[in-house]
Amino acid sequence: MPTPLPALHDWRLSVDYEGIAWALMDREGERVNSMGRRLTEELGEIVKWAETAAIHGEIKGLVVMSGKPTGFLVGADIREFSRFATEPQVKEVVKETLGLFDRIEKLPVPVVVAIHGFCLGGGLELALACHYRIADREEGTRLGFPEVKLGIFPGLNGTVRSIQVAGPMDAMTAMLTGRMLRPAAAKAMGLIDQVVPTHHNLRWAARKAVLQKRRSKGAPWWKQMMLKQPVRSLLAKQMRAKTAEKVREDHYPAPYRLIDLFEQYGDDPARMRAAETEIFAPLMASDTSRNLRRVFMLSEMLKDEAPKNGFKPKFVHVVGAGTMGGDIAAWCVVCGMQASLQDLDEGQLKKALARAKLLFTRQLRGKAAIDAAVARLIADPKGKYIKHADVVIEAIVEKLDVKQKLFHDLEAEMKPGAVLATNTSSLSIEDIAKPLKDPGRLVGIHFFNPVAQLPLVEVVRGERTREEEVRKATAFVAAIKKLPLIVKSCPGFLVNRVLTPYMMEAVRRYAEGTPRDKIDQAALKFGMPMGPLELMDLVGLDIANKVGAELGSGTPQDNPLSRLVSAGKLGKKTGEGFYLWENGKPKRGETKYDNAELDRLGRELIKPMLDECERALADGIVTNEDHVDAGVIFGTGFAPFRGGPLHYRRSQEAAATAAQAA
Ligand code: NAI
Repeated sequence: MPTPLPALHDWRLSVDYEGIAWALMDREGERVNSMGRRLTEELGEIVKWAETAAIHGEIKGLVVMSGKPTGFLVGADIREFSRFATEPQVKEVVKETLGLFDRIEKLPVPVVVAIHGFCLGGGLELALACHYRIADREEGTRLGFPEVKLGIFPGLNGTVRSIQVAGPMDAMTAMLTGRMLRPAAAKAMGLIDQVVPTHHNLRWAARKAVLQKRRSKGAPWWKQMMLKQPVRSLLAKQMRAKTAEKVREDHYPAPYRLIDLFEQYGDDPARMRAAETEIFAPLMASDTSRNLRRVFMLSEMLKDEAPKNGFKPKFVHVVGAGTMGGDIAAWCVVCGMQASLQDLDEGQLKKALARAKLLFTRQLRGKAAIDAAVARLIADPKGKYIKHADVVIEAIVEKLDVKQKLFHDLEAEMKPGAVLATNTSSLSIEDIAKPLKDPGRLVGIHFFNPVAQLPLVEVVRGERTREEEVRKATAFVAAIKKLPLIVKSCPGFLVNRVLTPYMMEAVRRYAEGTPRDKIDQAALKFGMPMGPLELMDLVGLDIANKVGAELGSGTPQDNPLSRLVSAGKLGKKTGEGFYLWENGKPKRGETKYDNAELDRLGRELIKPMLDECERALADGIVTNEDHVDAGVIFGTGFAPFRGGPLHYRRSQEAAATAAQAA
């Protein structure tokens, strides 16, 4: 009588005629597999069953794969992270899963994992506990350790196991950068053992691997030599230096702790396993990780708000081939759409097409994909393609009468049901819509510069904009893989509205005599991606000054910013602004300022931004606090580890109340 199969919800388990057990991960009621509590508990049931079945000779091996077309396993179920509020809780949950993975490793029959689609975080750690790893080479298949982005590192012994199979350089780089790896790269490192062309080949390859009792070989001797001292410490030093170029230890401690772990225990797997949990638990329970998880949830929230069914745009027409229009059209093409680009100036069109080609080369792989993208982007100086477009976006000069005239013409030519949008940053949607026969049709789709890099796009609802148009615009933004934030029309919308008082505060401080570098260092120390004065130099001081005059109420007419503009010093584009610019880089001063002073100044610089966030919330510019936070994080890069401006302010307030009560 064979060992009875356990009853399962998130897995499908069967044994075939050759005695191979197939465990297919298929979380009930979910589109993708993530490592939820029940999925892990049921894996425990499967392992228990396999242990008995193997002893009785009922199975020759076990294959672990996904039962979903969407992929293998995306890692931990972030919705269940509240289980990890304190260090002891983290240790308890981790201990159970570690024990389970160890038992998989010790199964007396071959355990083969077959991977299609995403295999990330805990998914990859599970794969590493198996004896042999196969992945398909399909476009959507990716492996990686994204944990650092959530303020942690792999905590299910993935640090130890990845180093054992891929060696310290490759494994640590993968964990420190959080980069997603294509199967060929993962194979070259040793993270997986075999690559097959498509997911159709996975089952056959896994069957063969079981029958031939294949096992991963582990890292070659020369990679293992790097684990010895003094090489290991030398590597650790290089890793610290490289990490420091990207993130500060006081803001993002996780990669630094991972390097410490490696340096201390890299050549002693048993001790490294134990130490991994000890170092992992406090990181997981920290505010930094909690806030970074919040940022992830906020991005998911914005994605989820885009309607999934209905509007499926394929063709975009962009008018204006300048800084923004050219890049918007090119980005739509990168995302698989067809785009036509219109401009009065043929020279601008040519430049935009050349820039687009560069973008395609960076974003797409293979000549065929790049050539196809080039073919999908059409120069259309006369606007012949307007009538074909599902979405028409205007990105011409910021002049009301010129825009109004253009929209009058566009409306007459567009097909019914197509979205009509403006990328204006400072004019009112209501004014632009005035000459339209159907003003309810116009919606704002406000991109940020540089388009390819910034994830947020504001979808602006004018007073008269129809809800249907907002929905379609939101669906379009999601279709080009950006995060849509629906905002009510107001000067500066959300992002520029809250950014401006912060910039103007920096100008005011500078006018009062606070050194330029001190201001920018204070903002960096707070966690902003760039100092406000350097940012203004980059945007162009003429633009910053105009926006400041429009939005920064209370800023005196005569200030250092307006004086620089009058002197023709417009920042990076003219070679001088607040900074002197050489070879595209600002010449920063060498002075290092006192940390406590920088902390105080940082808080003071940010305060006007937080106040404006409160006012925008009170004015109903976005739905709620989470939307303010999401907009400001993804639109300005506001210190992600602080969880967003309003979240930060509420935590400060709570801490102050708690301190008073104590
Ligand atoms: P730009 O000056 O680089 O480009 C404007 C282009 O429009 C030029 O190539 C010009 O030849 C063309 N143009 C002017 N009138 C036209 C017409 N009637 N028909 C066809 N083409 C015409 O301007 P930029 O910076 O790209 O800005 C465009 C729009 O995007 C503006 O509304 C601006 O407020 C907005 N915006 C700009 C951002 C930025 O950082 N530059 C950021 C977000 C929005």
